[in-house]
Amino acid sequence: MSVKKIMVIGFGTVGQGFFEMLRAKGKLSPFSGAKIAEIVDMKIGHIREPGPNVIDEIKGGKRFQQKDVVEAIKESDADIVCEFTWVNFKDAEPAHKHMIAALQNGKDVITTNKGPIALRYGELMAEAAKRGLQVKFKGTVMASTPSFNITRLIPGAEVTGIRGIMNGTTNYILARMAEGMAFSAALKEAQEKGYAEADPTNDIDGYDAAAKAAILSNVFGWGHTMSSISVKGIRDVTPEEAANGTKLLVKVDAKQASVSPEKLQDSDILRHVNGVMNAIEISTDTLGKIYSLGPGAGKSETAQAAMSDLAEILNEN
Ligand code: HSE
Repeated sequence: MSVKKIMVIGFGTVGQGFFEMLRAKGKLSPFSGAKIAEIVDMKIGHIREPGPNVIDEIKGGKRFQQKDVVEAIKESDADIVCEFTWVNFKDAEPAHKHMIAALQNGKDVITTNKGPIALRYGELMAEAAKRGLQVKFKGTVMASTPSFNITRLIPGAEVTGIRGIMNGTTNYILARMAEGMAFSAALKEAQEKGYAEADPTNDIDGYDAAAKAAILSNVFGWGHTMSSISVKGIRDVTPEEAANGTKLLVKVDAKQASVSPEKLQDSDILRHVNGVMNAIEISTDTLGKIYSLGPGAGKSETAQAAMSDLAEILNEN
């Protein structure tokens, strides 16, 4: 089997989680032949042929030669680029330019970065299609817990609408508030657990969930852009409301897309999804409603999504 070389861009929580997971699981059949050949991180530098102890070395203060990321992509002989830089909901940079450079240089792309998939989906998919390449992005919605990808299991079924709890940070905060914890202490816990975005206002004010609604809209061809989605976060939710089944709900179908706190009926499955758990309800024409529930954020939970995308690329090639 030929070796598939991977270039990792961004070596923070998700990048390191992916590195560790591929080290631990790389001998399993879906991944055999794949190896991380290089890592580029704007703070850490350009690491070629990273050794098994590279994370410990970095934690110990080791730094590598600085390298412009787009230049590194152009010079790289990697087959697959994994884009794990920070999210930017304004213009999706720099992740977007990294992904375009990867595609223009003949590399398949895996990302867990919501910015480019929410904001620049059409352009990225067109660039990939032109070259017979793939852009995989499972980790952008509900980490590795099945979400939009479930629909591959029901060929022919039309997805008519989606509701869901898709932000782990706010669902965690609401659950802790329901137990009596103050909002700020609960947010601090969510940050310590690695659920929150670098800028947690994206979680609190609903923009992270709105990006997921935009991604689902892109996948199912409904055409809502992030700026057209009605968004309200959880800042005004009281502890009483949190205890009474109020959740930050994503709703999207062909006609509308919204993110807003909503009090759910006791009979609603989504009301009972607590903590960092996410859940999606997918309405279909042939099967009625189907559900998937599982972790929606976290280091290994998101790294697993990139592993799933990697397995698909390796097995399709
Ligand atoms: N900040 C996000 C969340 C991470 O809390 O759900 C996963 O997208």
